[in-house]
Amino acid sequence: MNYDSLAIASLLLLLIFVEALAGLYTNSKRSRDDWWIEIMGFVHASTVSKPMIVVVTAVLMAATVPQLNGVYSDLSLWVSLPFVVLTDDLIQYWYHRKAHEWKWLWNLHRPHHSGPDMGVLVSFKENIFYVMIIPNIWFLAVVTYMGMGSAVAIGLVAKYIIIFGAHSTLRWDQWLYKYSFLHPLAWIIERTISTPATHFAHHGKSSKDGVSNPTGNFSNMFFFWDILHGTALITRQYPVEFGIEKDPKDHWAAQLYWPIIKSRKPGSEIGEGYHRKKSGVNEPIRMDVVADKVYWWCACGYSSDQPFCNGSHNGTRYKPLRIQFEKDRTVSWCTCKQTKNPPFCDGSHLQLGQ
Ligand code: FES
Repeated sequence: MNYDSLAIASLLLLLIFVEALAGLYTNSKRSRDDWWIEIMGFVHASTVSKPMIVVVTAVLMAATVPQLNGVYSDLSLWVSLPFVVLTDDLIQYWYHRKAHEWKWLWNLHRPHHSGPDMGVLVSFKENIFYVMIIPNIWFLAVVTYMGMGSAVAIGLVAKYIIIFGAHSTLRWDQWLYKYSFLHPLAWIIERTISTPATHFAHHGKSSKDGVSNPTGNFSNMFFFWDILHGTALITRQYPVEFGIEKDPKDHWAAQLYWPIIKSRKPGSEIGEGYHRKKSGVNEPIRMDVVADKVYWWCACGYSSDQPFCNGSHNGTRYKPLRIQFEKDRTVSWCTCKQTKNPPFCDGSHLQLGQ
């Protein structure tokens, strides 16, 4: 075993042990299916998917571009380490972001979000095909072949320290928010790396709680990618509910092996023949709204609770629009989603079908 793998495995075991002492595993809301996906996801990633990527890359490169073998082995770590770490993490930011916007990729990624609890093992709760096509792992395999293996090893240990910490229920960052003299440090840290608060927000069930950001906070190691791309939400709070809205609780095998194995749960988005339909409503909905109440307008058009969001936007580039009114009034909500003045009707539905 390499030293980096040993360090990562030791850290994982330590965190599992401390989480167990803290009662996570005895008080967990996880179902049997959730446990199976976490355990099997870990076994698959560490014994099949990731080793396969390294071996396939090395074989393919040896057969096609053997002159690149070790070509950068003399490169200074001062150059190779920032290059490897930043490139790897930026690629993963975009892969992860697209996993929430593209339907087929969302189907592969949704097991990571389907559990009701956080914990270090959630880091491995992934469909096996999602892991096999993670582009930054292929990138790491390529640069390893080219001689940057030391940078990859150091970068992976640093990355897993941050990722495990961001998923663990130990919530190491809570001390930063508790004492005001630590707030300037908290400000810097939460904008630099993923913390439990920002990553738990990504796993929160719905943005309607004002803390969760399931359509943002996509960063893995460095949180500044979310800051730079305008997808960040920092509240210094932790969601109460985790998981996916309208989750039919699919069998672990369907979550782990879709599309080879499909879910038999009625209405499941990873079920046989599932086809997501628009609401079919195009006429505006007139409604009396009350001052100060928060409304979440559906922007994607898939909600069956028009004009409001019901969580059906997963796997689209849309997210619900939050709106509050200063006084009681009557509004016409857009339901065709073509309005130029969201969330209100501007007559765009009259142009549909012409
Ligand atoms: S269901 Fe949430 S934006 Fe449409």
